[in-house]
Amino acid sequence: MKHLLKLGDLTPEEILEILNLADQLKYEKKHGIAHHHLAGQTLGMIFQKSSTRTRVSFEVGMYDLGGSALFLSSHDLQIGRGEPVQDTARVLSRYLNGIMIRTFAQQEVEDLARYGSIPVINGLTDYCHPCQVLADLLTIREHKKVLAGNKLCFVGDGNNMANSLIVGGIKAGMEVSVACPKGYEPDADIMSWASATGRFTCTDDVLAAASGADVLYTDVWASMGQEDEAAHRQKIFAGYQINDAVMAAANPGAMVQHCLPAHRGEEITNEVFEAHADEIFDEAENRLHVQKAVMVLCMGKK
Ligand code: CP
Ligand code: NVA
Repeated sequence: MKHLLKLGDLTPEEILEILNLADQLKYEKKHGIAHHHLAGQTLGMIFQKSSTRTRVSFEVGMYDLGGSALFLSSHDLQIGRGEPVQDTARVLSRYLNGIMIRTFAQQEVEDLARYGSIPVINGLTDYCHPCQVLADLLTIREHKKVLAGNKLCFVGDGNNMANSLIVGGIKAGMEVSVACPKGYEPDADIMSWASATGRFTCTDDVLAAASGADVLYTDVWASMGQEDEAAHRQKIFAGYQINDAVMAAANPGAMVQHCLPAHRGEEITNEVFEAHADEIFDEAENRLHVQKAVMVLCMGKK
């Protein structure tokens, strides 16, 4: 694996390889077994948006792997003043061993990989959030023992999370349903690719989507960069919430996942969130383990 730009670029076998290595690294960390696979290497972390989990888990991950990480805020980089990504990519390739980037346009991530000569990892764009969904798959596999055959239902905006969950879920052999208001559907190309497998549905009916689900997933109604639309979205998305009625439509023992940060009382009730907090914080923890696996596979000796 050269880069992680989007899950659509990975084969099901590559996704499994990441999850299996993440399991091993998690086991080793819990048992104090050092794994300095990236000794002496440096990861640059470019952030054009806020982050708690992504920033901290990548930085700790590099430390665990024997390397170091640099936090590069776009407010301070020349990229924030218009230096072209083509030039930034070539300069950073002379200093660093890998780049993690969180930004708006997916094209910027693709360009960084195209013009640079070091691995690029997507830490969220408006289009997708591959690292998060790899962590989600790891968590679901831990709790359900298998991925294939389980039904994953996403409730809410057809955003970056929905796009990556559809691709990751389908590639992992799951059935995926999405419930979103009309006009807020996930990416059209991703939906038609997923529909062709016969394991994907999209509806505006939350209870229909949640029926028989083994995993219920939600995310904020207004993503980073959509702050101006937040008030309007509160009205559009009212009802697109994981609550007791939605849990009752799902299979008994259904688990709940949320990429976080969560807005209790909006996309999820406080009661459902707290009842499933262990699963949700396992998911947050798994960002660390899965991203370490991604970094080893992209940046480690081949
Ligand atoms: N889920 C996630 O990516 O969290 P952060 O925005 O805190 O990085
Ligand atoms: N859809 C959210 C995900 C945050 C991890 C956003 O883009 O803000």
